[in-house]
Amino acid sequence: MQIKFSAEPTGDAIAYIVFETDKGVEFAGDIDKTGEAAIRRAISAGSFRGSPGQVIEILAPEWSDATRVLAVGAGRKTALTDLAWQKAAAGLVKRVLTGGTKALSIVGAPDRAAAANLGLGARLAGYRFDHYRLNLKAEKKPTLTTVSVVTDSAAGARSDFAPLAAKAEGVEMARNLVSEPPNVLHPESYADRIQELSELGLEVDVLDVAAMTKLGMGSLLGVGQGSVRGSRVVVMKWNGSKDKKSAPVALIGKGVTFDTGGISLKPGPGMQDMKGDMGGSAAVVGAMVSLAKRKAKANIVGIVGLVENMPDGNAQRPGDIVKSAAGKTIEIQNTDAEGRLVLCDVLWYAQKKFNPKAMIDLATLTGAIIVSLGNEYAGLFSNNDELAAKLTAAGKVEGEPVWRLPLGAGYDRQVDSEVADMRNIGNAGNAGSITAAQFLQRFVDDGRAWAHLDIAGTAWKPGNDNPLEPTWATGWGVRILDRLIADNYED
Ligand code: BES
Ligand code: MN
Ligand code: ZN
Repeated sequence: MQIKFSAEPTGDAIAYIVFETDKGVEFAGDIDKTGEAAIRRAISAGSFRGSPGQVIEILAPEWSDATRVLAVGAGRKTALTDLAWQKAAAGLVKRVLTGGTKALSIVGAPDRAAAANLGLGARLAGYRFDHYRLNLKAEKKPTLTTVSVVTDSAAGARSDFAPLAAKAEGVEMARNLVSEPPNVLHPESYADRIQELSELGLEVDVLDVAAMTKLGMGSLLGVGQGSVRGSRVVVMKWNGSKDKKSAPVALIGKGVTFDTGGISLKPGPGMQDMKGDMGGSAAVVGAMVSLAKRKAKANIVGIVGLVENMPDGNAQRPGDIVKSAAGKTIEIQNTDAEGRLVLCDVLWYAQKKFNPKAMIDLATLTGAIIVSLGNEYAGLFSNNDELAAKLTAAGKVEGEPVWRLPLGAGYDRQVDSEVADMRNIGNAGNAGSITAAQFLQRFVDDGRAWAHLDIAGTAWKPGNDNPLEPTWATGWGVRILDRLIADNYED
């Protein structure tokens, strides 16, 4: 979808932004008397109040050249945020995406920043993954190709929109990766796709099975050994800081391209969703795309661990003991607790190779986080209050909220093993998201700022009703990471 900024409305649909007030709605921009009266009449016939993203539509009015006239809420004037503008545009786009409308104009942006955020909302809402729907009926196909945001400062809005478009491209990349079927996206093909991103100025290095064997990554390799696809670790570097040598921020992602559970096989129903078990890695790849596209002034390294967890004659067994690259041994008690086994070797590699000033991992790690937080918040775990606060703030502005959960010695004890340095599941059968985080923390150097985001409930959302997101793969993580870096780690 093309996003434009122009001084006058054009196109077959025109939408007016309105604010919610105690005494009905207030129009944000210019509208002629006839139009306003007609829209007010339509509003009084229903329950429209002007909350962010709420839409009302008038078809083929005689008094307008447009075939559709809409009003959209931006919420209360006192609560205007970037997100409220994004939601307003998203509500409109979701409404007219497939109905025959080709070009939509949005009237009422008060300034260039609001205009740019309307553009971002339109762009995110216009996303679809229709790649494999070869015989889609005409009425289900998107017809909307252009959204024009009307503004007096079109040039300013265009330049404010540039970094937001970069962010949208990162989100789209993450959504595409999570949506790809697991026969298409497996560790080898995934690594190849990431390698193509060197076109953006990212430095990409791929570690194959031989390289990882040399490094002693027995934990990660154990997970992938039942798959016919070779495991991979992919490193993406963006050196945008003036000081090319300054310590980077490391972004780490779980990339299990399909999680059957392995020998601890998952039940059949719903297993297809486990194609999304690479959502953490997709967020990291997407964030790297955004950073490169907007030429972020920061040194960032993204590292993803790509494996497929399959049952097989050569698959790892419950009872196996593996040795991680950090030299710690792990008793495998459940082959379905594989994400932490992948991450621990990647965390080790990130610290040894890059000595990062902060390290953030994202993973669809536990079903238990869905029990705790549902599909609304991602779980946040951290050894550093400052980093936790930065992530919490970034998540709030971006509409990707996180909720911090505790870590502690009592939970840590639950991953002790009687036959190895640790086991890969907690021994009490409760607090599963926390014991998983405790396992990871055992691989974090003392004093290193680290945060873990458990995104099992947010990487995809069945029946998602957020207008900024599609029904399934959300691309969760790109926006919070992009904001975290923009607000805290750039020159
Ligand atoms: N990938 C799953 C977690 C998951 C579950 C993500 C549901 C998204 C939706 C993870 O590898 C897993 O299987 N975790 C187990 C851990 C258990 C065996 C300790 C779980 O959550 O059941
Ligand atoms: Mn699993
Ligand atoms: Zn998994």
